[in-house]
Amino acid sequence: MSYGRITGWAVNLPERVLTNDDLSKMVDTSDEWIKARSGISSRHVDGKVTEMSAVAGRAAMEMAGLAPDQIDLLLLTTTTPGQRLPASASVIQHELGLSCGAMDMNAACSGFVYGLVTAMQFMDGGMERILLIGSDALSGIVDWTDRATCVLFGDGAGAVVLERTSGQPSLLGWDLMSDGSAASILYCDHGGTIVMHGKEVFRRAVMAMTNSAQNAMTRAEVAPDEISIVVPHQANVRIIEASLKRLEIPMEKTAIVLDRTGNTSAASIPLALVDALDKDRITPGDLILMVGFGAGMSSAAAVLRWDPPTA
Ligand code: ACO
Repeated sequence: MSYGRITGWAVNLPERVLTNDDLSKMVDTSDEWIKARSGISSRHVDGKVTEMSAVAGRAAMEMAGLAPDQIDLLLLTTTTPGQRLPASASVIQHELGLSCGAMDMNAACSGFVYGLVTAMQFMDGGMERILLIGSDALSGIVDWTDRATCVLFGDGAGAVVLERTSGQPSLLGWDLMSDGSAASILYCDHGGTIVMHGKEVFRRAVMAMTNSAQNAMTRAEVAPDEISIVVPHQANVRIIEASLKRLEIPMEKTAIVLDRTGNTSAASIPLALVDALDKDRITPGDLILMVGFGAGMSSAAAVLRWDPPTA
C-alpha cells in the first residue's frame, strides 16, 4: 500500500488529426475495416514527446497549485524519446523550470503503470511531490506504407502530479510483469519502424491484461465487482472487451478514448483517465483498475483508491 495521491492532471494532443478516411487514401484500407477490427476512428499525429509532455506537465502542476521548485522528481515514461541522449525528461525538466531529478523509463505501452508504481515507491521513500508523464509519438516510428500497423497508432501525452498524503493509502495493489521470450512479436529497431505480428500480440495481450489485473486485485484484496472503473491500455477495443469478459467486469465500467486517439502507448492510460475525470465518471473513494500491456511483452496493473485533492 502506498500513500501518494493524484492532485493534478492534464493531457496534450498534437493538432494534426488523421482520420480513417485520410488513411484509406494512403494505404489499401477503409474506415469500416479499421473501426470493426480496432474501434479506432481517428488519431493525432506529428507530435513531439518533449513538447506534448511539457504542455501536459505544466497544466498538471498548475492544477495541483504547485510551483516548479516544489517538484521532487520528474518521471517520463516513453518509448519514443526525442533523442538517444539526453533523456527527454531532462529536456522537459528544463522547459518546466524544475530543479529536481529527471529520468526516462521505457516499459512500452505498460509504461504509465510502471511509472505510477515506481513513483509511489519514491514517495514511500520520502519524496513529497512527483510529476509523472506518459508520452509517445508513435507516428514517427510507423511505416506509413504498412496498413497492418499504421492504422493503429497515434501521439499524445498525459501528466499527473502525485503528492504524499498521511491519510488513507491510495495504491492498494499492483503487478508488474515482463515476458521477454515474446520480444520478437512486436519491436522497433533504432532508426526503424514498428514490426508487429498482430494476431499473436492480440492473443498474448488478452492473457497478459487478464493475469496482471487479477494479480493486482488479489494483492489489493478487491473483487472485480468492487472496481468502479477500468482504465485499460488503449490498443484495440476488442482486446479490452475480451479481457474484461474474462475478468467479469462489464464494458460500461471502462474508460475508452482509442476511438479518437488510436494507440498512444505510454500516454494511453493517462489520456483515458483524464477523459473519465473530465466526464465526472470518478468520485471520491472509487476503486480504479489501471491495466496495460505492450512490447516486451510487458504488462502492468494497479488498483488505486481515488482520493482527490480537497478544494
Ligand atoms: N485494412 C484492411 N485490411 C487489412 C488491414 C487494414 N488496415 N490490415 C490487415 N488487413 C487484412 C489482412 O491482410 C488480412 O487479409 P487476408 O485475410 O487476405 O490475409 C485481413 O485483413 C485480416 O487480418 P488479421 O491480421 O487477421 O486481422 P485481425 O482481426 O487480427 O486484426 C489487428 C488485426 C487489428 C492488427 C489485430 O490483430 C490487433 O489489434 N492486434 C494487436 C495489436 C496491438 O495491440 N499492438 C499494440 C501492442 S501495444 C505496444 O506496445 C505498442
